Parts: sequence; C-alpha cells; structure tokens
Amino acid sequence: MQNQRGQIPWYDERAGFFGRGYLKEYSNYLTKERTLTEVNFLEKTLQLRCGDKILDCPCGHGRHSIELSRRSYNVTGQDLNSFFIQEAKKEASHLKTAPHWIKGDMREIPFEDEFDVALCLFSSFGYLENDNEDQKFLNQIAIALKENGKFVLDVINRNRFIRLYKKRRWKQLHDGSIVISENNFDQITGRNLEKRVRIWKNGMREEVSHFVRMYTIPELVVMLRTAGFVPYQTFGDYSGEPITFFSKRYIFIAKKI
Ligand SMILES: C[S@@+](CC[C@H](N)C(=O)[O-])C[C@H]1O[C@@H](n2cnc3c(N)ncnc32)[C@H](O)[C@@H]1O
Repeated sequence: MQNQRGQIPWYDERAGFFGRGYLKEYSNYLTKERTLTEVNFLEKTLQLRCGDKILDCPCGHGRHSIELSRRSYNVTGQDLNSFFIQEAKKEASHLKTAPHWIKGDMREIPFEDEFDVALCLFSSFGYLENDNEDQKFLNQIAIALKENGKFVLDVINRNRFIRLYKKRRWKQLHDGSIVISENNFDQITGRNLEKRVRIWKNGMREEVSHFVRMYTIPELVVMLRTAGFVPYQTFGDYSGEPITFFSKRYIFIAKKI
C-alpha cells in the first residue's frame, strides 16, 4: 500500500512504527490487567450477551479479541499488520473458539449488517491521510453493524494532550531501553507528528514516526453522526469516570440508527 505521493504510510508495518518494536515499547503499558479492566468495562457498559458478534478493528495483536473470545463472544479481529495478526493467531491457538482474523485496511471491512458490536480501541483512530479517510472508516463500521448495533470509539483526550504538550520527551523502559520523542503539533490541521527514536538496550536504534489527528469532541460527534450513529454515552477512562481536562481518554458509545 502506498499513499498518493507514492510513499509508504506511517501506519503500514513496513514503516516500522507498528511491529516488534511497538510491542516491546508498550509492554509495560499493555499489560494483561489493563486488557482485563478494559474488557470488563466493555462487557458491563455494552451489556454484552453470550454469542454476540463483535468486530475489533483495528485489533492489533489481538489482546481484546482474544479475551472476548475466551468469554464466549463471537469475535472477528481485523488489522492491516500481518505480523500482529500472526502474533494474535499464535496467542489464540489454544482457545476452544478462536477469533476469526482478517488482514486488511480499516476502510475496507468486508461485512454488511453482521455485528452486534464494533470496537476501535486504544487510539487507533485519526491515523489516515485526512479527515475524509477517517470518515470512511466510520462509514464502514456503520455498514458492518446490524441496526441498533453499538460502536465503541476510544481515543486520547485531546484537551489533556494539549495541556501536557511538550516538544521533547523521553522515557526509560523496564529493561533500560530508551525512547526519545519529538512532537510537532500542527495548529491548523490538528495533526501531531511525533518522531521517535527507540534505543534498545543492545545499542540498536530504530527511528519511527507516528502521525495522528487529534479530534475534538464536537468533531467526533459530527463524524459519528455523519456515519449514521447516535453517540449516547461518554467516559473519560475505563473505570467509567466522566471526561474532564484530566481524564486520559475520550470513550464514546454510539448506536447505529
Ligand atoms: C495502537 S494499535 C491498537 C491495537 C488494538 N486496538 C489494541 O488496543 O491493542 C493501532 C493498530 O492500528 C492498526 N492500523 C493502523 N492503520 C491501519 C489501517 N489503515 N487499517 C487497519 N489497521 C490499521 C495498526 O496495525 C495497529 O495494530
């Protein structure tokens, strides 16, 4: 896949951001407990019923899809990244009923009126080339859901991001590896370009980019409505607290009408 200028998009696995390095960088963060808390919240808030058909897109390395399958839901995980899909398959191989995996772009979801629930979790929205491309994803999700199907969109809290904005940051991972990042937030487009250097403990360096549109709440509401959703609940985190300047997330629950 190439963008209009013939370049590999930053989110494509060949560009390097999403791959083994991502899993290593986020290993302290994407813990089993975190996934269990998120899935418990989803089960309760969406009032999931045994056998519900759930689409997890993009599913990454399958952490939610696998936990939901373990709890007897009928899950499909879709992601562009073949390495993540392979990792997810390995992890799910011992399950009685494993998720159904699809490698594919989030703008091309091969289902119509199929799912009771769709999930887009952990800031996986705002990656595409422009707002119209992001809108295409929401439109596809609406097509893939049954009438009255529920959609969960979980993105970073833009106001908190702006409040804590820093040009340069660095963090040290448990094993001593270091990640240095440089942010460039474009006030006109609302997009943040982050360049990261991952310096692994063996001295190897990886230079990657992360390019995300930071949507405001009113913008997200308009986009959800345009796709045919009615947003009916919002949360600021997975403990069910409201959105504030301090909460970490914007979590929307919307219904397809
Ligand atoms: C931050 S990860 C989150 C994954 C998962 N939802 C989770 O909570 O762990 C974002 C995912 O989006 C996927 N992705 C990025 N662009 C995509 C696209 N155009 N189509 C499908 N998946 C895409 C990446 O491969 C990556 O797995």
